Parts: sequence; C-alpha cells; structure tokens
Amino acid sequence: MARGVGSPGRAQIPGRTLRGDRWWLAPAVTFTLIVIWLLYALVRTSMQRDYYVPQFHYLTPFYSPCVTASCHPDARHLGTWLGEMPPLVPYAFFLLPILLGFRLTCYYYRKAYYRAFWLSPPACAVAEPHAKYTGETRFPLILQNAHRYFFYAAVVVSAMNTLDAFDGFHGKDGGVGVGLGTLIMLTNVAFLWLYTASCHSCRHLIGGRLKHFSKHPLRYRAWTIVSRLNTRHMQLAWTTLGTLLVTDLYIALVASGALTDLRFYN
Ligand code: FES
Repeated sequence: MARGVGSPGRAQIPGRTLRGDRWWLAPAVTFTLIVIWLLYALVRTSMQRDYYVPQFHYLTPFYSPCVTASCHPDARHLGTWLGEMPPLVPYAFFLLPILLGFRLTCYYYRKAYYRAFWLSPPACAVAEPHAKYTGETRFPLILQNAHRYFFYAAVVVSAMNTLDAFDGFHGKDGGVGVGLGTLIMLTNVAFLWLYTASCHSCRHLIGGRLKHFSKHPLRYRAWTIVSRLNTRHMQLAWTTLGTLLVTDLYIALVASGALTDLRFYN
C-alpha cells in the first residue's frame, strides 16, 4: 500500500509545499559541501604521494595508519601489514569502510544526506518525491543500526590519529620539535575526539540502561558532559570535516615542497 504524501487518506495539497522561505538553501549547501569534500578525499587518497613529511613526521589522517610496503618506512609506526599497493588504491583502504561507515550511519549525517541527497524529505513540510516510505526497517537502511559498532571502531581510529599527532612533535635535529603542522594535527585530533565523544552511541554507552543515576555518580557526571557535547554534534561533524581537510592539505603542501613548515621550536 502506498504511504507517500500523495496516497489516499493524506491531505491533498496541489503545491509541493506551502513554505514561503528559502527551504531549499540548507539542503543545497549541504549537498555542495559534501560533494566537494568527497571529491577532494577521493583525489587525495588515490594520489599515493605527498602524504608524509619525513623531516617532521607529519602523516596525513587520510593515509593513517600507513602499514603497506608502499608507505615511507618512517611512516609505518604500526609495522608493515600489506605489500605494495597498486596504482590509485588508497594506502589505508581497509580503514576507509570504517570511517565511511561511521559517518554514513551517524545520526546527524543521516539527517543531512536524507535531506540533501535523497530528498526524503528535502525539508520540513516539503513533500518528498518518493511514492512510499519504509523507514530504516529494511535493507539497506536497516544497516544504520550498526552505528554503535562503527563507533567502537572509530575510537580505535581516533587513537591511531592521536599517535600520529604525538609523532608530529619531531624536530629537524631528531629531537622534540613543534611546527605549525604539529598544532594543526593536534587540533584535528582534539576535534575528532570531541566529535566521537559527542556521538549518540557514546552517550548511550555511558548513561544508557541505568535505572538510577544516583547509584552511579561517575557515569552520571560523564553522561552530563557527553550530553552537553551531544547538543553540538552537528557543528562537530562539520568542524571535523574541515579540520581533516585542512590537516591533509597542509601536510600535502609541505610534503610536496610548495610550502615550508612554520617552525616554533627545532
Ligand atoms: Fe554521529 Fe554517532 S551519532 S557519530
């Protein structure tokens, strides 16, 4: 039985919407920014170069962890797990499904791409073009329920990015050093942790299934902090897209020689 907006029993409104504001602006901007970001990520991950600055140990998050024989030897912090990569294959190809899965099943991104890409619906009180609606109860959208498992994996990935950021405290003479790249990597990793901690699954993990908060004061305290972060989840989702892009771009420019790293110490 049809369950779309034009089906029997629904109010028959001839116009697509009665809204008079620019309701299309938000989905259009979301669509444009996400497409630009995805194209950038696709180009950068398939370039197979300018991902590491050996002098300062800067490794872009788009190639982390670098564990293939194609990686620069100093970039293989976790060893060499795989052989040479064929052309165009991202060095961290096995991690990309995790990162993509984490973002694609994220509650905020679902809202963003359901509106901007699937137009389901494109905005509140705007009819969608689809004839029927089955929600997230069938394949493929039932897979959205796997979000909590992507969250666990994303915690591991953020830990790897944290190791990379600490490795970025590497100076010209081999000792400790700090450059603009170090600060950019640290900022990126800080926002990645904030985004991960603000996840709805994280909030449930910390404060869910409890009958009495009063009997679990530590979990209650953690839950209130995560809940405050959770209200900023959308902003953190966009901020991390920005910090990831800026970190990768900066490291690519320094690695290619187009830019010299600004050094504060050694
Ligand atoms: Fe967005 Fe979990 S809800 S990352």
